[in-house]
Order: sequence, then structure tokens, then C-alpha cells
Amino acid sequence: MNDKITFTITRRRVTEVLMGLVALFLASGAVTTILKYLWPKASEKGESIEVRIGSVDEVPVGSSKMFNFNGKASVLLQTPGGFRAFGAVCTHLGCIAQWKPDENILFCPCHIGKFDPNTGEVVAGPPPSKLPGIDIKVNDGAVFAIKWKDPDYVKTLTMYAGAA
Ligand code: FES
Repeated sequence: MNDKITFTITRRRVTEVLMGLVALFLASGAVTTILKYLWPKASEKGESIEVRIGSVDEVPVGSSKMFNFNGKASVLLQTPGGFRAFGAVCTHLGCIAQWKPDENILFCPCHIGKFDPNTGEVVAGPPPSKLPGIDIKVNDGAVFAIKWKDPDYVKTLTMYAGAA
């Protein structure tokens, strides 16, 4: 009686298994895309996803505070005209823009990109498009980020992929 069991694995079989794994990997990406389409995140539907940024006292006029919104660096600032919030990931190559109240600009130090602190529009430098605005509200002494002002615009931004 022979107790030995032998398996023969051919190169062709190894190739078939590897091709199967590659197909499975690609299919999982397609399934994820389909699921994201069928059940988009709340923010992709333009729904509120309230995030407490901080107390009003933390951001007096002329100051700013960085926060995380939908996994992206964002900035709340208070100009003499009130609070404003924007995604702070520069639309050029993804550095983080910060508010310079002395110059009244949102400034990206990587390539001297400048954005309007009221609208997010590009004022100077290489950024191809504006910073996305974030709707905010003040409630009970605190500032909350509510949603992207324009979720469809956020979807067009490479640096924001997956954040809308
Ligand atoms: S990454 Fe902001 S200006 Fe280039």
C-alpha cells in the first residue's frame, strides 16, 4: 500500500491560479465601484455630515483652525465678514493651503498658490481651480462643518478623490 500522495502542479495550473487571482482583484474593484454608486456616502448625496470644528472662541477674527473634513485637511477662518471654511488641499499638487490674515489670502507654500478667503477662487499661482467651500453653522458657541457647498465640484478634484 502506498501512503504517499503526490500533487503535480504544472506551470499552466500556476498561471491559471494567478490569472484567477488577478481577475478576482479586478472584480473586487468593480464591485466596490458599483456599491459606491448604489449607496453613495452621505456627503456625496449632498447630505449633512456635521463635524464639530471647535468653539467660536478658538477662532477669533483674524485667526484660523485646521480640521479634518471627509478625511481631507480643511481650514476654518474668521474674517471680519464672518466664518468661512474650505478644503485646504491645494488643487495644484496637493499641498496644504493656510490662511495668511495679514495678506488676506489662503496661501499654498509649495508653489505660491493664492486663493480668495471669501470664495476659494484662485487669485495667483499655478492652482488650476478653486478650493472647495464647506457649509458651516454656528450653534451653541461652536462651529460645525455641514457639507461641501458643491459636492459635484469636489468629485472633479483629483486631490479630493474619495472625499466627496
Ligand atoms: S501645490 Fe499648491 S501651488 Fe502647487
